[in-house]
Amino acid sequence: MEQAAHALPESIRAWRVTQFGDADALRCVTLPVPELRNGEVLVEVQAAALNPVDLKTLQGRYPLISDNDLPYTLGRDVAGVVVRRAGDVEGWAEGTRVCAFVGQGQGTFADYVAVPASALADAPRHGAIDTAAAIPLAALTAWQGLFDHGKLQRGERVLIHGASGGVGRFAVQFARHCGAHVIVTASAQTRDALNALGAAEVIDYQSERFEESTGDIDLVFDLVGGATQARSWNVVKRGGAIVSTLGEPSQVEAARHGARATRYTASPNGKELAHIVKLFDDGLLKVEVVERFDFDAMKDAFERLGRAHVHGKLVVMRDAA
Ligand SMILES: NC(=O)c1ccc[n+]([C@@H]2O[C@H](COP(=O)([O-])OP(=O)(O)OC[C@H]3O[C@@H](n4cnc5c(N)ncnc54)[C@H](OP(=O)(O)O)[C@@H]3O)[C@@H](O)[C@H]2O)c1
Repeated sequence: MEQAAHALPESIRAWRVTQFGDADALRCVTLPVPELRNGEVLVEVQAAALNPVDLKTLQGRYPLISDNDLPYTLGRDVAGVVVRRAGDVEGWAEGTRVCAFVGQGQGTFADYVAVPASALADAPRHGAIDTAAAIPLAALTAWQGLFDHGKLQRGERVLIHGASGGVGRFAVQFARHCGAHVIVTASAQTRDALNALGAAEVIDYQSERFEESTGDIDLVFDLVGGATQARSWNVVKRGGAIVSTLGEPSQVEAARHGARATRYTASPNGKELAHIVKLFDDGLLKVEVVERFDFDAMKDAFERLGRAHVHGKLVVMRDAA
């Protein structure tokens, strides 16, 4: 470990699940400063975005975390400053402003978090720290779904379900930048915002059935699941694909329609994140933080997340004042 100028506290605050439940089940506890393992840096958390996975984890609905993993520190997005690095880490000098999507178990709803250097990117040069926190998980999910799994190409027709939310807004912009024709399902009130981000066609899922107004789709990017995913077989073309962040699409239907179908879990990736941050710095990506909460008001933030229909990102700030 290198000599460091930043004085670390004796303990940190962390929001944990000790028992599954709703916002009231959250507990703010005191813990030791995380120890660094090889390849990790210690980040002082300045802002952390909320994602549906945080609520699912709190409620015991995230299949990868069970009673055996409790107590568990929540939080998967972070923006902050590097304050220590393990001896084997190259680069990432102390004082560097960074952002990251962290894997399970690290927990960014805390004063400090240990992050694998491979997950880090420089925070955007422009924009506030809350913007930096709002990018990683949602933007990487969109990027990986469209390109790593969906293989979206210029000129193709993509249908994005749930486009008004955290992941969807990034997906609309990435798909547009790659030269695809972007069709989305979303509530009517978000139509203008989604057109402005690059959606050529917005289908109001509350008053229209998308299969009656669109078809011949190369890629369905599904952020809704359930019946919406099942109905998507009516619009995907032969040789096309359904890629979902939610339920596993039917392989029987995939074979019947001559299409590919996959469900994936987004993963931390510092290189992809750096590319996305550059798009933001180049003015090619808009990031919408719709509400900010103080670190102490974490329960309020979870209550807001639980009411759904969030049209952008919710961010918890260490110093929200
Ligand atoms: N597998 C993974 O690695 C992974 C990663 C990230 C996210 N996810 C999952 O993917 C989903 C989307 O994530 P997110 O962060 O974007 O969530 P989000 O911010 O809550 O956005 C979801 C959006 O979907 C819209 N919506 C709801 N029902 C709809 C329907 N029937 N048709 C079209 N739009 C509908 C809602 O807006 P309205 O107000 O318009 O209804 C909402 O804004 C979540 O379930 C999340 O858990 C999975």
